[in-house]
Amino acid sequence: MIKRAEDLKGTTTMLTRVALDQKTRDEIASLLQETLGELIDFSLQLKQGHWNCVGRHFRDVHLQLDEILASTREHADEVAERIAALGIATEGNAGTTAKASKLEPFPSGLMDADAVSHALAERFGALLKHARERQARLGELDAVSEDVMIAMLRDLEKHAWMLNARTADKA
Ligand SMILES: [Fe+2]
Repeated sequence: MIKRAEDLKGTTTMLTRVALDQKTRDEIASLLQETLGELIDFSLQLKQGHWNCVGRHFRDVHLQLDEILASTREHADEVAERIAALGIATEGNAGTTAKASKLEPFPSGLMDADAVSHALAERFGALLKHARERQARLGELDAVSEDVMIAMLRDLEKHAWMLNARTADKA
């Protein structure tokens, strides 16, 4: 039955042409949703760092964080649209995603640019670790959704390398 847009309040699923059963789609969507929340949270943290970094390396860090942000936002969109393709509503509101994210909150106030890089590199590492854990399960459920996660990991792990190269943290 076709619902008119004004009747959709509270609806979280829709007809999909993806040939996977509802239970499988629900589990995939929930794994993708967890990563989406962390990508949104991390996007906000990147801007927090972009705006509040100070010190000798201000300009380099300020510009690098926007490069990471562009890629993070692009992949957040891909992940969200994969959930939509599965016929399931996506949650992208700041309050809800912030509550669900497992990333450490980012400090408030001005910070030295090197400290900003270090704090973001740590949170980036956590996001990528969680994403790999979910990717392993996605591989068992749906290669197409796993592919979205792999593409994300390929780009973001590269950005994480470049951020780590700046902080030169020992392994
Ligand atoms: Fe800016």
